[in-house]
Amino acid sequence: MKLFIVSSLVATAGAWTLSPTRLASFSPTTTSGTSLSALKPGEKVTLIGVAADSGCGKSTFMRRLTNIFGGETVGPLGGGFDGGGWETNTLVSDQTTVICLDDFHANDREGRKLTKLTALNPKENDFDTMYQMLSDLKNGKTISKPIYNHVNGTLDTPETIEPTPIVIVEGLHPMYDSRVRDLLDFSLYLDISDEVKFAWKIQRDMEERGHSLESIQASIEARKPDFDAFIAPQKEFSDLTIQVLPTQLAEDDTKTLRVRMIQKEGVQDFSPCYLFDEGSEIDWKPCGKKLSCSFPGIQFKYGSDTFYGNDVSVIEMDGSFDNLQELVYVESHLSNTATKFYGELTQQMLKLADAPGSDNGTGFFQTLASFKIRELYEKRAAANKAKEKVAA
Ligand SMILES: *[C@@H]1O[C@H](CO)[C@@H](O)[C@H](O)[C@H]1NC(C)=O
Ligand SMILES: *[C@@H]1O[C@H](CO)[C@@H](O)[C@H](O)[C@H]1NC(C)=O
Repeated sequence: MKLFIVSSLVATAGAWTLSPTRLASFSPTTTSGTSLSALKPGEKVTLIGVAADSGCGKSTFMRRLTNIFGGETVGPLGGGFDGGGWETNTLVSDQTTVICLDDFHANDREGRKLTKLTALNPKENDFDTMYQMLSDLKNGKTISKPIYNHVNGTLDTPETIEPTPIVIVEGLHPMYDSRVRDLLDFSLYLDISDEVKFAWKIQRDMEERGHSLESIQASIEARKPDFDAFIAPQKEFSDLTIQVLPTQLAEDDTKTLRVRMIQKEGVQDFSPCYLFDEGSEIDWKPCGKKLSCSFPGIQFKYGSDTFYGNDVSVIEMDGSFDNLQELVYVESHLSNTATKFYGELTQQMLKLADAPGSDNGTGFFQTLASFKIRELYEKRAAANKAKEKVAA
């Protein structure tokens, strides 16, 4: 399988990208094959926070992340409701656990009807328990975590979570509470602009579920005040933000996306990825001989900026790939990608080629972000090991 990908890369990418010496050092390290590994003695949990406005567990980003970290076997804890287990939001893979922060809702659905508050409101979330449990988990303790059942809107019997080397907490408020925020080793924010949110909702709720335009507009409007008050401000604290905007390449094109990877400067063990030349301003339209793109084309940008008061560097991709295999051409112009071998970014994108966003910047930057997180995790693990040695 991997060999096939390698050879197809060579075939389509041509000689300019894969030199023989680079090919010789092409040695995929595979993390799959190990069974669900609990924390080894002395090993620390690396805790990653992902803020997103969507439901937990099912997101493509989690699939991309866990695929890179933890091999192939990603699934619900206990096998999930359909697999004879319980209704869970927790995903486990070989060395990763993904916890949905909805599990720390303060009230069930009926309770929220009484308070008349949305789940976006911090009052509807139990940050004390969230902090206590994530802190315990980080210290290597097993926890008994509540479950918010999204099907029935109930708070179900808690489930047991064992610490794994990587724990990802995904949800609305990973960076809201300062105690929880301080536990995080790295944080991400998936920032979908209102225009794109609207276009996606129209596609799903109107075209697929038959809702009216007015009701979609109303539901977005109803959510917006709480969203702006409680969720969006977390962007200030995110180490990496993936921003999804409408394209600037064509007018009235609601399908094509402009996606920006906003990387905070000065974060320990995280050196931002860059295009061509670190610190410069780049505007790059690679379409032509080496990358085939149809209208409206592809445009990359790179440069420095400030974001919520922080110095950041930004890589941007506007447009879609026609042929995913040619991505290796773009990859060859990126530095600090945290890949382990040449072509790994392209290979990983090809592995999940059928997943939503694989032909545009959302998939591209989610994959890139996953590599950066893997790198950070490995640096921290190595430093921790060195510390243990000194102590011993
Ligand atoms: C939802 O509640 C009903 C009634 O109590 C129960 O039979 C069903 O198993 C629950 N569904 C899930 C997914 O937990
Ligand atoms: C871009 O990515 C999104 C998901 O992130 C996907 O739903 C959409 O179909 C993609 N759009 C295009 C034009 O490829």
